[in-house]
Formats: sequence, structure tokens, C-alpha cells
Amino acid sequence: MNFYNRDFLKILDFSEDELRYMLAIAKKFKQIKKEGRNHKYFPNKNIVIVFEKTSTRTRCSFEVAGYDLGMGVTYLDPSGSQMGHKESIADTAKVLSRLYDGIEYRGFDQKIVETLAENSDVPVWNGLTNECHPTQALGDFMTIEEHFGRLDGLTLAFVGDTRNNVANSLMAMSAKMGVNFIACGPNHLRPDEEVIKKCQEVAARNNCTITITDDLNVLNGNADVIYTDVWLSMGEEKEKWGERIELLRPYQVNKEMMNRAKPDAIFLHCLPSFHDLNTTVGQDIHEKFGLSEMEVTDEVFESEQSLVFEQAENRMHTIKTVMFLTLYNKEEK
Ligand code: CP
Ligand code: NVA
Repeated sequence: MNFYNRDFLKILDFSEDELRYMLAIAKKFKQIKKEGRNHKYFPNKNIVIVFEKTSTRTRCSFEVAGYDLGMGVTYLDPSGSQMGHKESIADTAKVLSRLYDGIEYRGFDQKIVETLAENSDVPVWNGLTNECHPTQALGDFMTIEEHFGRLDGLTLAFVGDTRNNVANSLMAMSAKMGVNFIACGPNHLRPDEEVIKKCQEVAARNNCTITITDDLNVLNGNADVIYTDVWLSMGEEKEKWGERIELLRPYQVNKEMMNRAKPDAIFLHCLPSFHDLNTTVGQDIHEKFGLSEMEVTDEVFESEQSLVFEQAENRMHTIKTVMFLTLYNKEEK
């Protein structure tokens, strides 16, 4: 297996064995971190993390993982670079890859991160685009495997806006890892047909299934994991809230929905989440539409079935793994 100098743009670019290897290394890094052992492998390297959309987990994970590996880290915020406004993506990539050893990008079209990668000599890591969130899926599968002690044969149900970036990456990761994937949400918000087809081909190879449906009954006695995400993603127009609430209200993860799943099912969410009124957006929605909880109820979010903060932690261990593997050159002394 050779990861050196490769980009991490989407899950489907990696083989089953490579993804399993990444999960195994992430487990080791988690242990090393807990034991407080030094793992500053790259004291002479620097990375840049570019965020055109806001972030807490992904940004902090890249920063902490970078420092843990001994690297220097530069953060560029949504307004802090010339990229896209005064300088093309291609030129930006050429400049950054002369200064840095790795580039993280969070932003809009997948095409942007691909253009960065095509024009850069150093690894480019996707920290979320409109279409994909691959480091999220890696961290989530680490969490699922830690909890159940296996992945093969489990069923993950993503409920809600099933065509969003997180759902896409979970579908791909499920297909690769032999996990049955259910996308359960309104027909208007189905994942892209081409992506479904690609994932179904991969799933067939790994003896698992991809089911796309609007029927909640599919969860009954079936799901080991119930996963949801916000009903409106970053970059989508705020005017769409009303329409989304209308469409997605039946898919709110509440106690009744959790009871449809297997008795030992877990709840996952990539976060951030609107499960109470302690956010300005949550309050705004409450005033306009009268909802006090959205994609998940506070009861489920705070329940013992909820592993959302384990997930958040595992983002860091898996992101560290992606950086380590793509930066580590076995030939280099
Ligand atoms: N889950 C996730 O990507 O969180 P942030 O938007 O805070 O990075
Ligand atoms: N689907 C969400 C994920 C946030 C981590 C968004 O893109 O806003």
C-alpha cells in the first residue's frame, strides 16, 4: 500500500484495504495520544488549511493533528486569501505547494478541491465540499467500529437530507466497508443517481446493499446506526429553510424513530446540530417556524445511545492518519 503524496479528495478514490488500513492506524494514533507519547514525526514540515466555509471540528482537528505531528500550521479563513477573488484556484495551488507540504481545503464545489489537487505537487485533503465530506466518514466509521467491534454486516441508516455531502461520503464508505446503507428521506432530496450507481457497484462486491427510500418502515428492526445531519447545509440559501422544514419534519430523529431501530442501535450526527434553542440559528427558526428542535430531538441527542462527542474526537485521530500516511515517505531518512 502506498499513500505517499496522494490526495484525499473522496472515499471512492481508496480501496477497501486502504480504508481499513487507515482505520487501523487511526486506532494506534488514538492510543499514542491517550498515553501521551511523542509522535512529532514531521518537525520540518508545514501545512496550510484553507476554509471558505466556517468550521469548529475540522479546523481544530487539522490544527491539533498538525501540531501533534510536529508541523507548523497556517490557517486561512474565508476572507483571508486571494483565492478565487483575485487569484485562480490553479495559481493558488502552485503557490501554496511551493511553500507548504500539504494543503487542506474546505469550501464549495468538489471541482475546486480537484483543481487544487491537479495543480499542486503536495497532498491536498478535502475538509468538506458541497458534494463530499470524506474525513467525516472516516472518523464516523472509526466510531462505529469502536462501538460494535466490527463493521461487516452492520446497517447504517442516514435519515433526512440524503443528498448532502455527509450522506454521500457515508454511502461510499458503507459500500466499501460491507455495511448496508439506507438513505431515508423525501424523494425530492435523493442522492445523485450516478453516485448511487457507483456505490451500488462497490456494495455488490462487498456483499452489502444500498437502499434509497422515503419510507421510514425500512428502519424497523434493521438499523444498527441512525445518522442525521442538518436540514440546510452551509452554502445553501437561507430562504430554503421553510421548504426544508416542511419536507424533512417527518424525518426528525426522535425517540419513536430510535425505537424503530435495533434495541442496541446508536445515534450519530456529524455536528453542529440544532437539538435545542441554544444557538442563534435555532432561535431564529423557532421565531419563524415554531420549532424548538430540528433534525434530532434533545432527548435523543443527550441519550446514552448518542455517540456524537466520540465522533467529534475521532475526527482528529483520523485526520491525523490521513496527513501522516500521505506525508510519510518511507525512502526519506
Ligand atoms: N462535522 C464537521 O465537519 O464539523 P465542523 O463544521 O465544525 O468542522
Ligand atoms: N451538511 C453539513 C455538514 C457540516 C459538517 C454542511 O455542509 O453544512
